[in-house]
Amino acid sequence: MNQPAFDHLAANYDHTFTHTEIGRWLRGRIHARLNTHFFPGCNVLELGCGTGEDTLHLANQGIHVTATDISPRMLEITRHKTQNNPFVQTAELDLRELTSTQSVLPDAKIFDGAFSNFGPLNALDDWKPLAHWLASRVKPGGIVGLGVMGPFCVWEIMWHGMHLDFKTATRRLKGYATFKPDGSAAPMKIYYPTIQRLEADFSEWFMPIHVESIGLFLPPSDVYGVIEKRPRLMTRLINLEKRFAENPTLARFADHYWIEFERKS
Ligand SMILES: C[S@@+](CC[C@H](N)C(=O)[O-])C[C@H]1O[C@@H](n2cnc3c(N)ncnc32)[C@H](O)[C@@H]1O
Repeated sequence: MNQPAFDHLAANYDHTFTHTEIGRWLRGRIHARLNTHFFPGCNVLELGCGTGEDTLHLANQGIHVTATDISPRMLEITRHKTQNNPFVQTAELDLRELTSTQSVLPDAKIFDGAFSNFGPLNALDDWKPLAHWLASRVKPGGIVGLGVMGPFCVWEIMWHGMHLDFKTATRRLKGYATFKPDGSAAPMKIYYPTIQRLEADFSEWFMPIHVESIGLFLPPSDVYGVIEKRPRLMTRLINLEKRFAENPTLARFADHYWIEFERKS
């Protein structure tokens, strides 16, 4: 396999995203959601853990996390951040190759829940195989929370449209785009499923219980710097974001949406 494209982003990921003010605030919202479902002693599977910020957040509370990612470099950073934490296990896992994962995850292990934050599922073009695979690994009644980039991000269309960059402004509208981080030999395709598509692909085994927007008034990460330089504007946008976050209809216009499913009995 080619070196995963995200390997090339790993070293700077925390600097350019995790440690930004907006990135921290949005992640805090996801942490609040995770904390409504997962408690000390739970066993949770994380898909596309990146540099392990969510892994660490849960493990610090005594929640067992099996943190997986396709990128060895991302996993290296996760291991480094969580090295003394006995609640963390890491494993290389490609969400597109779930049938060959027997050696990666113990077959018999059943998790209390699973989650994937900030876009790993956008590497897939069909979410039904993932839902099927998760159905045999998450206990009945267990929660699966997914943070996914949607196909209609109003901020992206307006911002790049205003700058006459129509290619970027409309890149999500056809449902997929090509992504090639600097220095990466292999471009990867990113797919943008609608909320309805994800619900349909999960429907045989999972019931949707919650949807909210992540980045409706706040912009996508390439514009964080512009907003963070204007603290008063940022505070206003955060207030709007809080006010409308839980409107599921508006979630379809956000940079990401967060959707939670409950495993059917
Ligand atoms: C935008 S980052 C999000 C990382 C982390 N979840 C967070 O909240 O910061 C997307 C992650 O998905 C991982 N990823 C991309 N394609 C993947 C795949 N096919 N299988 C597993 N992980 C993948 C990348 O390596 C990267 O770590």
